[in-house]
Amino acid sequence: MDRRKFIKGTLLTSGIVATTGIFQACKKYSEVAAKRTESFMPDLEFDLISKQGKVNLFRNIETEVYHYEFKLVKGNTTSVQEIKDSYLGPIIRVRKGQKIRVNYKNQLNDESIVHWHGLHLSETMDGHPRYAIEKNQEYVYEFQVLNRAGTYWFHPHPHGKTGPQVYGGLAGLFIVSDDEEKSINLPKGRYDVPLVIQDRTFNSDGQLVYLQNPMEKMIGFLGNQILINGKPDFKLQVSSVAYRFRLLNGSNSRIYKVAFSNGMPLTVIGTDGGLLESPIVKDYVVLAPAERIDLIVDFSGMKIGDKVELVSLPFPNPNMSGGMMGGMGSFSGLPNGSPLKLAEFRINKIEKVNYRLPKRLSSIPPLNISGAINVNNPRTFRFAMSNMSWTINGRTFGMTEVASDEKVRLNTTEVWEFINGGGRMGMMGGMMQMPHPVHIHQLQFRIIERSVGNSALWESLKDGFVDNGWKDSFLLLPGMRVKVLLSFKDYSGLFLYHCHNLEHEDMGMMRNYFISS
Ligand code: C2O
Ligand code: CU
Ligand code: CU
Repeated sequence: MDRRKFIKGTLLTSGIVATTGIFQACKKYSEVAAKRTESFMPDLEFDLISKQGKVNLFRNIETEVYHYEFKLVKGNTTSVQEIKDSYLGPIIRVRKGQKIRVNYKNQLNDESIVHWHGLHLSETMDGHPRYAIEKNQEYVYEFQVLNRAGTYWFHPHPHGKTGPQVYGGLAGLFIVSDDEEKSINLPKGRYDVPLVIQDRTFNSDGQLVYLQNPMEKMIGFLGNQILINGKPDFKLQVSSVAYRFRLLNGSNSRIYKVAFSNGMPLTVIGTDGGLLESPIVKDYVVLAPAERIDLIVDFSGMKIGDKVELVSLPFPNPNMSGGMMGGMGSFSGLPNGSPLKLAEFRINKIEKVNYRLPKRLSSIPPLNISGAINVNNPRTFRFAMSNMSWTINGRTFGMTEVASDEKVRLNTTEVWEFINGGGRMGMMGGMMQMPHPVHIHQLQFRIIERSVGNSALWESLKDGFVDNGWKDSFLLLPGMRVKVLLSFKDYSGLFLYHCHNLEHEDMGMMRNYFISS
C-alpha cells in the first residue's frame, strides 16, 4: 500500500496520533500495576490485548481499527465470545459470584487501561486513568463479580484518550447472570441478542474519520452512519418468537430515541444495573451514551418475510441552545436528533412458542431516601460550561485531585443532585448548554427524581426515560436537575464520576470522588 495514502487515510495515524502527540510522558501510577496473585483461584481467566488491526466492515475494504483480542486461559469456551467481522468485543458472559482474572496487555502505540463499566470493584480493578499502562505493559485484573444479573460493558479509560480509543473500536459487553434471573422465564441462547449501537464516519477509502475540528470536539463526535455490534447495515434474521434484546448505547456522544418502525411498543425489562421489578411498556426509550436497556420483543404473529426496523425517532437538536455552534466549523456527522435506521429484523422462520413474560422479574429494594445522611442537604454537581471548557462545579479533571465536597464515607448513603447549566457561568454559560450523560463509577444508584423541563426537547423525550431500576448512567438535559440515591459499600478509595459524552470526558468533564473508610 502507498505509505502516504495509508498515513493520510487512516484514523490510527491521523486523528488519534494527532491527539496523543500532545501527551507528555509524565510519570504515572502504573508502577503499582496490578500483578497476578497466586492465591487467587479464577473461574475464568483470559488474556485481553488491545491492538491495532484490520477488519472487513465493507466488501473488499480493510478498515483500520483498534480492537481487543483475547485468549482463553481457563474456563468455559462460551464465556468469552468473538464477534465476527467486527471491531467490537469480545462478549464476556459470567455468573454472579465467579472469580475473574484478566491479563490485560496493551499493544497500542499509546497508553490505555480497561474500565469495567457498571461493575462494583475496588479502586485498583476499576480502570482509573492513573493506572494506564504504556505499550507492551501488562495489568492484571482479579475480581469477583458482585453485581446482579445485567448488561455491563468494558472500554478504555486513559485520560484524554477515551474518545478516540473507543471510537477506534475498543469496547465489549460484560454480561452477568444470576440465580434470580435464571429462576424466571426469559428468552435464552440465540433468543438473547445484544445490540450495541454506535455511530461512525468513514471516508471514501472506508477508513474511520474522527474529529475534524475543535468545535466538533466541543459538541462531541457525531457520525453519519450507524453500526450495530460493530457492523454497518445490520440485519438480523429472526423467528416468530420472543427475543431479549440488550441495547447498549456505545456511541461517543449520540443520543437515541429508540422505537420500532411499525409502532409496536417497547417492553422494557431492565436498565443499566439489571432487571426491573416488573416490565414496563413504552412507545419509545431514550438511550444516552453508556446507558443500557433490556427489551422483550415478541415477533409472534408475524409472517415469513415480514420486516421490522429498530429506529431512532427525530427530536430537536439539543446541542447548544440557540444553535450557537451551528455555524461554526463544518460537520460531516448527522446532528443529534436526526431520524435514523438502527437495525432491521426479518422473519425467516415460523416457530410456535407461546411466550409469557413474567409479571414479576426481580426484587429491587424500595427507595429508602430517609436512610441518606444528607436528605435535606444534597451534594450538588453542576455540569456546565465555564471559560470555554466543560466543567463539573466549575472544575476540570485532575488525575488524583479531590475537592472537599467530593469526599464521602464508606457505609453511608447520600443524595446527590446533578444540575445542568446555570451557576456563575454568565451569559455564555447559559447559552452553551448541552445534554450531559452523567456516569458514576463503582456503584449502581437509584434515581429519586428528575425535574420537569419546559423545552421542546423535554416534550419530545419525556416519555422515554426509564428511571425506576438500578442505574449507573443517566441523561441530564439542559436546565434539568436529577437527584440520585447512592450507597458507598465494600470499597474505599478514589473513583470517577464524569460526563459520558466521551469528548466532554476527554476535555476534563470528569472528577474523582473519594470514599474514606
Ligand atoms: Cu463507561 Cu468512566 O466510564
Ligand atoms: Cu464506568
Ligand atoms: Cu457532557
